[in-house]
Amino acid sequence: MKNNIVPVEIAQKVFSDSNLPCIGKAGIREINKLARDLEAASGVKFIHMEMGNPGLPAAQAGVEAQIKALQDGVAATYPPIDGVPAVKNEASRFIKNFLDLDVDAKNCIPTVGSMQGAFATFMICGHINKEKNTVLFIDPGFPVHKFQNKVLGIPMENFDIYEYRGEKLRDKLESIFATGKIHSVLYSNPNNPTWVCLTEEELQIIGELANKYDVIVLEDLAYFGMDFRKDYSHPGVAPYQPTVGKYTDNYILMISSSKAFSYAGERCAILGISDKLADRVYPDLKEFCGQDIFLRGILFGALHPLSSGTSHSAQYAVAGVLKAVNDGTYNYREDVLEYGQKAKMMKDAFLANGFEFTYDEDLGEPIADGFYFTYCYPGFTGPELLEAMLYYGISAISLDTCGSTRQGIRACTSLIQREEIPVLAERLKRFAEDHPIK
Ligand SMILES: Cc1ncc(COP(=O)(O)O)c(C=O)c1O
Repeated sequence: MKNNIVPVEIAQKVFSDSNLPCIGKAGIREINKLARDLEAASGVKFIHMEMGNPGLPAAQAGVEAQIKALQDGVAATYPPIDGVPAVKNEASRFIKNFLDLDVDAKNCIPTVGSMQGAFATFMICGHINKEKNTVLFIDPGFPVHKFQNKVLGIPMENFDIYEYRGEKLRDKLESIFATGKIHSVLYSNPNNPTWVCLTEEELQIIGELANKYDVIVLEDLAYFGMDFRKDYSHPGVAPYQPTVGKYTDNYILMISSSKAFSYAGERCAILGISDKLADRVYPDLKEFCGQDIFLRGILFGALHPLSSGTSHSAQYAVAGVLKAVNDGTYNYREDVLEYGQKAKMMKDAFLANGFEFTYDEDLGEPIADGFYFTYCYPGFTGPELLEAMLYYGISAISLDTCGSTRQGIRACTSLIQREEIPVLAERLKRFAEDHPIK
């Protein structure tokens, strides 16, 4: 190393003070802290690509609606556990307008971020059927979901989708569903960390097998409409955000406001439970939470003990944003498209310096430019690369932490500013000069 910008002695002191057993395998928050410690010790400002924090201002319609709700006095009272009518109605309209699915407003439930929606869902799905105790993750995925199941003591299985795209997904999924122990399966689409987007064919396979084996599909739409190769942003007009809901009634949609509407701070998302699933009776559930109807299990068996509902004013905020997008007065895509444009520039800089993309295509089509991308460098494992790049002032997370079988790194495009992209390019060049490809 000759061109590193964080001196080796300083970096190694910070590494050793961190007490991390393996720098390259540290989680998001740990890497973020490490990078901040390196910044403080070396004076080098890092290019932060580890955190998936939105890098844009919150959707204005939400801010206005939330301020009004607070001025109207909602802060003083507990919100209804199933949500205020305004957010339920707008969520149901949103699901119709942008997914072309019918989900009754009664089954659209606000939660404290999609994170809590997932936690509540796992809690209940884990107890609907005594024969089925395991959740399946179509990986790579968001590590916190696994942590939630660990905390809940729910057994998990996972596989990396990389080798099972298209029709190959059918046999793989069927072999796992056929064990009879899977109660639910989760994937994010677009995918965090790889930005893989499932095709209509793949969603159909998942839906058909969910019907055959009575498995609940948890469709995490944290990056709603952000496959920028298509424009899914016009209410009631095709194309719609692809969804498994076209192929099964056994689904739960997790619609986060954090990324599409830059509303991460107020922690309010929507669980859209299919009408059939919401009303379904699961006799085994009663022993766990005193309820045997699925929706009642979610509301009274999970959301009540977890937080007794979702912030009152944040519900009005999300109602306000959803109303604006439903009415067509706010196009969220025009704002978040910035991530895709930055991704393109960043990816060009990586390619120019010998890096490759780890997850590079969706069945022959290049992966969209969006919130995340994945990269690798010849001769390095993911954790090795992550650690080596810290010496050049670049922080990210290793795919190892996301259930990936591939060696690589996840880069997040949100926090880097456009004017920092040439700085990133210069640092990548330094790295490449120090690590010539053999
Ligand atoms: C795939 C995925 N699911 C869920 C979440 C959490 O969303 P929320 O902020 O609504 O809790 C995130 C946040 O980064 C995510 O990437």
